[in-house]
Amino acid sequence: MRLGIISALAEEQHGLIEAMESSYKRFHGMREYTAGKLWEIDAVCVLSRIGKVAAAMTAAILVEKFEVTHIIFTGVAGSGDKNVHVGDIVVAEDLIQHDFDASPLFPRFEIPLTGLTRFASDRALTERLAAAAEKTGRVHRGLIASGDQFIGKRQQIVALKEAIPDILAVEMEGAAVAQVCFELGIPFAVIRTISDNANDDAAVDFMRFVKTVASRYAYDIIENFCKA
Ligand code: ADE
Repeated sequence: MRLGIISALAEEQHGLIEAMESSYKRFHGMREYTAGKLWEIDAVCVLSRIGKVAAAMTAAILVEKFEVTHIIFTGVAGSGDKNVHVGDIVVAEDLIQHDFDASPLFPRFEIPLTGLTRFASDRALTERLAAAAEKTGRVHRGLIASGDQFIGKRQQIVALKEAIPDILAVEMEGAAVAQVCFELGIPFAVIRTISDNANDDAAVDFMRFVKTVASRYAYDIIENFCKA
C-alpha cells in the first residue's frame, strides 16, 4: 500500500508530517506533497485547500504523479443529523455532491455518465479507519454530503435535509475525492470529526474547534490506522 492522506487545512493534518520518517517534499500545482514512512506505512501527505475542485485536483495528482494506491481524506465537518454531535466522528459509507444539479438532463445529484448519485467508499479501508477512530471518539457511519458552500445558516441545513434526509455530515471535499477515486479505480475512505452543527453558530464553532482540538483527532486516528 502507498497511502495518500489529504486534508483541506493544516490544522486537520497537524503533526502527521512531523511524524513522517525519511520524508522528502515535492511541490506541484500550488501544493506541497510530503512523501515518507508513517508508522511503517508508505505515505504521501498533502493539503488540498478548501472545495471540490481543489480536492479533486489533489486526489488526481496523488494518484497520477505520486502513485498512491489508496486515499484517505481526514478533516472536520458540520453535523447533518441531530444524533451526531460536536466531537463525534463520521466515517463515510457513501458520499454525495449536494450542490450538483444537471436536471432536467440528468436526475438531481446524479453525476453524468457515471449513473451514480452516491459514491461508495472502500469497505476494507473504511472498516480499518472506523476501528482506528473508535479509540478516539464516538463513531457514526453513513452518508457524507459535499458541496462548494460552508453551511452556516439553519435554513441551508434544513433545505439540505429535506432533499437528502440521511445526511450525517456536511463538508466541502469528500465527494469530489470519491468521484476521482471511483473514476481511477482507487480505494478511498473519508473520515470527519464534527466541528459544528451547520447552523447559525457554525462559523464560530468551526474556527474554535479547528484551532483547538481538530489536530489531535487526525493524528490519533491516523496513528491507530497505520499501526493496526
Ligand atoms: N466543514 C466544517 N463545518 C462545515 C460546514 N458547516 N459546512 C461545510 N463544511 C464544513
